[in-house]
Amino acid sequence: MQIKSAALDIVCGVTSKLPDTGQAEIAFAGKSNVGKSSLINGLMNRKSLARTSSQPGKTQTINFYHINEEFYLVDLPGYGYTTASVNVRQSWGRMIERYLKTATNLKAVFLLLDIRHAPNANDKQMYDWVLDNGYTPIVIATKLDKIKRSQVQKQLKLLRDTLGMEKGAKLFPYSSVTKAGREEIWEFIEKECLN
Ligand code: GTP
Ligand code: MG
Repeated sequence: MQIKSAALDIVCGVTSKLPDTGQAEIAFAGKSNVGKSSLINGLMNRKSLARTSSQPGKTQTINFYHINEEFYLVDLPGYGYTTASVNVRQSWGRMIERYLKTATNLKAVFLLLDIRHAPNANDKQMYDWVLDNGYTPIVIATKLDKIKRSQVQKQLKLLRDTLGMEKGAKLFPYSSVTKAGREEIWEFIEKECLN
């Protein structure tokens, strides 16, 4: 994918009306701090257009990044941010649910998981939630640079087994440090989501 332009076009708060963009949308979900905004920056070839932070809970709105004025990458707020109040957590959950349920241009939902850890109950719930809404979650195992090469296959299997992913279901390892996996993810998006 050649990135001709990338811009943060729409920011949706908890009470905002969700936009009807009229163009394909590709969403990125996952636990707080897993690397959603970093991945979106990596895909866009931008260092910091999507704000990232070592503190979980950075992205608290649904952010729509317009790519080449043709489609959107959608950065969802992270779940499982334990220090947020129950109210805040519930409203984020409802916002994500509302988006998944009502989006008419949503072509795919990527679910990001840290390659180092087995998915937890929240991750499994999100995976099933995406499935229940009629999408097959495409899993991205982030922070690939944090484990030894010899551990990669074992960790990928752990993610697959814990989530109960089907045999053919897609799983992409990715590192926002080395950008390993970037081409494969774009190739998938171009082939499977944008036509
Ligand atoms: P929220 O907005 O809180 O939901 O988090 P997020 O999922 O958008 O995570 P973000 O991209 O802000 O990254 C969180 C932290 O992890 C930052 O300090 C990133 O630099 C770091 N990080 C993200 N991806 C990677 C990666 O592939 N490798 C390494 N080593 N660090 C990463
Ligand atoms: Mg973020």
